[in-house]
Amino acid sequence: MDNVLHLTSTASTNEDAYQLALDGAQHGYAVIADEQTSGKGRLGRTWVAPANTCLCCSLILRPKLPFVELPRLTLTSGLALYKVIEKLTGLNIFGLKWPNDLYCEGKKCGGILVESSSPVTSDEKSFVVVGIGLNVNSLLDDFPGKLQETVTSLLIQTAKHYSIPELFIQLRHSLLYYLKIHEELGFKAILKEWRKYDVLYGKEMQWLTTEKKVITGIGLGPDDSGQLLVKDRMGDLHMILSGNVSLKE
Ligand code: BTN
Repeated sequence: MDNVLHLTSTASTNEDAYQLALDGAQHGYAVIADEQTSGKGRLGRTWVAPANTCLCCSLILRPKLPFVELPRLTLTSGLALYKVIEKLTGLNIFGLKWPNDLYCEGKKCGGILVESSSPVTSDEKSFVVVGIGLNVNSLLDDFPGKLQETVTSLLIQTAKHYSIPELFIQLRHSLLYYLKIHEELGFKAILKEWRKYDVLYGKEMQWLTTEKKVITGIGLGPDDSGQLLVKDRMGDLHMILSGNVSLKE
């Protein structure tokens, strides 16, 4: 494959891709690994992916977008991932959980970690690394104890195995395609599609604030800037920029 670094094992493909981007790797260059030993998730979490059964990849993008627009690429990438999975499985049982998760029947099947170059980087050198972890051919027993309650995979959901390299090729294509839509038609065009697959919309959900306060409310989906809107029991509207949200049990 052109412009792809395929590693048997690495700490984190996002870290590898970030360094390659700093060294000048071009738009669309990707790192894929059969195994990650220190996979990174959002909010400083670790990403656990049983070796050889998951897709772990990171794509370097040099978007023609202003810096303020870059965090929105999490939603753009989620849409790109959703579309690949819907087409591949022929099923509409999957959905997107704001801001970065691929969900199925209340369980997490995949996640996205977008990391941007420093805000002081010049426009020509600025970049984004889009890291994607997708549970493909894993079974629950492949995951450590507690995680088994919250994760799922394409194999578990569809009773079929999938080629991880083939999935990666389709995903890279889809990411580059939806980035172009974002650049040319604007984030609104992405949101219009994304909202169709929103698993939190109209549902009772919880949000953990940075002050560690739990707020319960109804998910109203992302606003035009990509922040999540939640209406609490008193009817007050909250705009969530970042944080941990979940469906209320
Ligand atoms: C999340 O759901 O918190 C985001 C998970 C992102 C995991 C992927 S796996 C490939 C890439 N490399 C990493 O270290 N993380 C991302």
